[in-house]
Amino acid sequence: MEALVRGENLKMHFSVSGGVLKAVDGVTLHIDEGETYGLVGESGCGKSTLGRMLAGLYKPTEGLVTYGESFKGKPQMVFQDPYSSLNPRMTVGEIIAESLRYANVGKALRKTRVTELLSLVGLKPDHVNRYPHEFSGGQRQRIGIARALAISPKFIICDEPISALDVSIQAQVINMLEDLQGKFGLTYLFVSHDLSMIRHISHRVGVMYLGVIMEEAGVNDLYRETLHPYTKALFSAATIPDPDMAAKINRIILQGDVPTPINTPPGCQFRSRCPKAAEICADSRPELREMAPGHRCACHFAG
Ligand SMILES: Nc1ncnc2c1ncn2[C@@H]1O[C@H](COP(=O)(O)OP(=O)(O)OP(=O)(O)O)[C@@H](O)[C@H]1O
Ligand code: SF4
Ligand SMILES: [Mg+2]
Repeated sequence: MEALVRGENLKMHFSVSGGVLKAVDGVTLHIDEGETYGLVGESGCGKSTLGRMLAGLYKPTEGLVTYGESFKGKPQMVFQDPYSSLNPRMTVGEIIAESLRYANVGKALRKTRVTELLSLVGLKPDHVNRYPHEFSGGQRQRIGIARALAISPKFIICDEPISALDVSIQAQVINMLEDLQGKFGLTYLFVSHDLSMIRHISHRVGVMYLGVIMEEAGVNDLYRETLHPYTKALFSAATIPDPDMAAKINRIILQGDVPTPINTPPGCQFRSRCPKAAEICADSRPELREMAPGHRCACHFAG
């Protein structure tokens, strides 16, 4: 299978008052055509920044994003918050047609395409002249998805697309994204905090921590044979049915928040919270090594 998107040693560093903030610090990954690559990790670990680089919205400080031969259209994004990502002064029709206008698609064709897109995402043709505030959260996210689909892209980055929605409508939006993937052979980068959602929707999963991928594998391998201490901590807290117990374990293993990645010292990014950390972990950063076919892990003690 041909990789549709590749990132080689991607870094995104920001100058901040305290020094250099390394939001993404050396990520190499590929996403195959037609697959969903799930990206998990705690808040601030660099998921959105990585997504923006793969979408071409950020120029990497270092490294390269390349697209496969069958790639077409520009990568599109579906954002977490359908309230703030839609311009309140534009009609639904204008919002969906905007990228078509930029692509110099004529007015008549734009109109037909917008009607088609509205029906694809389960909205009505007469919604076209309404404004975003007239819709529910779920409907607004459908508008955001129609906008992303307008130019028939191959690759869509879904950055927490359902986390702002009511639980009751999350499944509808997910099912729709899956249907659309089947219909159009879409490739997704799917960013989420929700480990069971990631398990449900992804073919492969990458686990990020402080700007790097700590573990990456096919979804079944990752959930059955978790290798990295960070992934284990993340998963164990999430899979314990008793929330009090889960909170306790989370407190033990994943105390506090992810440290801010400013002026990070060498060594393993996870060492300040890792129960297995040893001297070598402070001296050298573990590489992402292939431990089994397709299963990569960045820990000195894995395997
Ligand atoms: N434009 C920017 N300038 C400076 N720092 C930034 C910028 N964008 C992101 N960061 C910092 O980079 C780190 C990674 O941010 P990012 O938004 O990619 O994380 P995330 O994993 O998407 O988090 P969340 O789950 O909360 O959405 C954070 O420390 C964030 O504060
Ligand atoms: S390299 Fe060391 S600190 Fe990092 S995850 Fe492995 S044991 Fe923990
Ligand atoms: Mg984010």
